[in-house]
This record gives sequence, C-alpha cells and structure tokens, in this order.
Amino acid sequence: MRAVHLAAEDDFEGWRDAARSLALAAVPPGDVVWQAGDNGDLFADEAVREAPADGQFSVPRAFVDLARDVVLHSDPQRFALLYAFLWRLRAEPGLIADAADPLRRRLEEFAKQVRRDIHKMRAFLRFREVADEEGPRFVAWFEPEHHIVRANAGFFMRRFASMRWSILTPEVSVHWDGATLTEGPGATKGDAPEGDPVENTWRTYYASIFNPARVKVGAMLKEMPKKYWKNMPETALVPGLIANAQARESGMIAAAEEKIAAVAGGNSQGAWAALRQEAAGCTRCHLYKDATQTVFGEGPVDARVMFVGEQPGDQEDLAGKPFVGPAGQVFDRALAQAGVDRSTVYVTNAVKHFKFEQRGKRRIHSKPQGPEIDACRWWIDQERVLIRPPVTVALGATAARSLFGKVVTISGMRGRPHDLPDGGKAWVTVHPSYLLRLPDKAAAEEEFARFVEDIRQAAVA
Ligand code: URA
Repeated sequence: MRAVHLAAEDDFEGWRDAARSLALAAVPPGDVVWQAGDNGDLFADEAVREAPADGQFSVPRAFVDLARDVVLHSDPQRFALLYAFLWRLRAEPGLIADAADPLRRRLEEFAKQVRRDIHKMRAFLRFREVADEEGPRFVAWFEPEHHIVRANAGFFMRRFASMRWSILTPEVSVHWDGATLTEGPGATKGDAPEGDPVENTWRTYYASIFNPARVKVGAMLKEMPKKYWKNMPETALVPGLIANAQARESGMIAAAEEKIAAVAGGNSQGAWAALRQEAAGCTRCHLYKDATQTVFGEGPVDARVMFVGEQPGDQEDLAGKPFVGPAGQVFDRALAQAGVDRSTVYVTNAVKHFKFEQRGKRRIHSKPQGPEIDACRWWIDQERVLIRPPVTVALGATAARSLFGKVVTISGMRGRPHDLPDGGKAWVTVHPSYLLRLPDKAAAEEEFARFVEDIRQAAVA
C-alpha cells in the first residue's frame, strides 16, 4: 500500500505530481491511500510525497481542467477517484468524452458543485468595515462547502483591489493589503464583526439593482440557501421589495419617462445617466444571466468621435468599464500614437454583456451572434441619439454589423468614410484583439501601424 500525503486540501499540483509518478510506476488505484492537509496521518511511516518521475505523460486538457475543480471538493474520496479515472484514461483516451461513464459523471458532478460554491462565495460574501491602526479594513465571514477559498481569492483581489480586506472561513483566512495576499489559520464566526455601515451601502445597492420584473421567489430561495441569508443584510429587505414590486415597476417606467424629459429639456448628461441606469437592468437577451453586469459606454456626451467595440471581455465585465483589459491596452496605445486623447472620445460596445463559455475556471470569450447584436442595438441607438457623434469608428465586424444593420466585410470598407443610416460618418477598422492574435511580430507591427492610421484619419475627418 502506498500513502500519499498532500500538503493541503486543495493541493492540485501535489495530486498531479503524485498521480503522474504513481501511474508511471504502474501503481494501481487500489494500492494507494490519499491524505491531505492535517487530516490525521494514518500512515505516517510510509507516507510519501511522490517526486515527479521521468517519462512521457500526457492527458487531455479537459481532464486537467476537471481535476483542478474536483480537487477542491470536500469529499475525502476525490483524490482516489481522480486517480482511478486517470488510470483508466491512459488505457482509454476516449473516456474523457464518455458522458455515460458513471465515474466521469460523478467527477463532473463534483466539479459542478465546486463551481457553484465558488459562485456563491462571490455572490453572497459580505464585508463589514472595521478600523485598525492603518485605517479602514473590510472583514467578511464565509462558510464554504468546499475547499475553494484560495482558488477564489484572485477574484476578490481583482474586484476589491484598492481595499484592505480579510476573508475569514473555518478552514483558512486570507488577507489583502492592497498589494500582497497572505494566509492565516481558520477562524470562527465570532472573529468577524457584526453589522456596520457597509451593510447600509449593500442595502442601498441591492435595493437599487432589485429588478421587480425579475422576482422569482422560488429561484431566489434556490440560489440563496437559507444558510447564507443570515449573513446578508439585504435579505431583510426582500419581503418589502417584493411587496413593492408593482410600485417599483411603475418606478422603472418613471425612470424611462425621466430620460425622455431630460432629452426633451436638452439635458443630455441627465438623459445619458438615466439611460445607463436603465441599461443596468437590461434583460433584452439571455446574456444578462451569466454576465456580472451591463458594461455601458463611457465618455463625454458631447464627444465628436464614438468608438464601438464588440462586447466587454472578462476584465471589462468585472470592472464595469469598456476596453480596460488586454484589447483595451492595445486600443489605448493606438489612440496615443494617433494623437487622440481617450478622455475626449466616447467608447462603447455593440453588445453590452460579456458572452463567454465557462471552461474550468476560465471564462472564454464567445462571439455574439446576430440576435444578440440586434437585441443590443436598442441601447447603442439611444447612445447615438444622445451623443450624435459626427464620426464613428467601428472596431471589427460585430461593431460594423451593429452600426450598418447588416453583415459587412472589414477589408471591403476600410480606409474611407461611409454614411450611417442615422447620420454621421463611419470608419471601419479591425478589432484590437485581432492584433493580439497575430503570431508573427513583423506582421503585428505592420497591422498595428495600419490600425493607428485608420484611427488618425477618422479623428481628423
Ligand atoms: N473588446 C471589446 O470589443 N470591447 C471591450 O470593451 C473589451 C474588449
């Protein structure tokens, strides 16, 4: 019998190295006992941390993604089950795609439960403000069902990058000081502060995003198990909000009316703010269901140039701002070289919600289709009515399709202005992410220079 002792309950690398060595040494699954963290070292004398062995070993990417999630599950059998699956996978590579295989289904179910727990932590964790000698710190208590805290810490670092925060859980605590993430031992609920002003912020926020048209009490209870309710200040608001739903619905109509009044009164800034607020609750197509938020356009309402991209990416979805991720950096660099100050132009997207496919922990961009572009035209048309830009630059084919209302080719339209159906001139160029995908450095530089030239010509037009 071989005993493998992994350093922690979520030690994916440890499991992977040990599994690789054991499989190369042809140790059958029945001969291995797996232990993790401090869970009683039953086989202390024999316990080994398998060193990576030499030799060829490759498994499908999908298995690695699956294993990364499964390792985070709380079932003590997870490491053994994964190794048993790996053992069979080496003989039968098609197994990874065999949806009927009971072990694969069990592992998929584990992965699903882990992803659900990750989502719950993101959605239901609430910070309370405390002060220490360095100033405000935000502390949250959370009880995950699986070993997801380390895997989820990156999300909170990105989302609350400039805050100092601590997340306390029974198994581990993680702390962010604005620059470094550190870890400490588990905690108890009594270590976390109770109610404070942050709760009021949450209450206000929740009340303002509560969309009466989407109230489904059954679904809310399913999504928000009672276990989490006690930690959430806003749940106390729910009964009142439901009772007021009808009144709130007329409130939404009032917001739309406010926008119309602002337009009629020539208050473009007010109208734009009302439009943005209305778009925050958009359910015109299915994309709102998985995205974090609506990413509305940004820039002065009297901008003379409007740039239209495709849709927010992963980082834009989290930040709520257009073009702040890798494509945004290329875009910023091109604007600077073309002599255009980003703060003077209006930047928006044809589609306002992030469309993606979840692969393991990653959210992979997925191209919006015609019906999604058409549904979202509702918003860009209204942005255009308010801003009336004399010049619009379509970044890529999706933007061009949205603006012209039909499929067009970039190569056929590039380099000269075109009349838009709603007035103004449009220039069509490539999307900045296309430049990021070019494999050849020389070609990338050449294409970047062309992109800069397109922007320059449009801006001076
Ligand atoms: N790509 C886009 O088209 N828009 C963004 O906001 C980011 C990436």
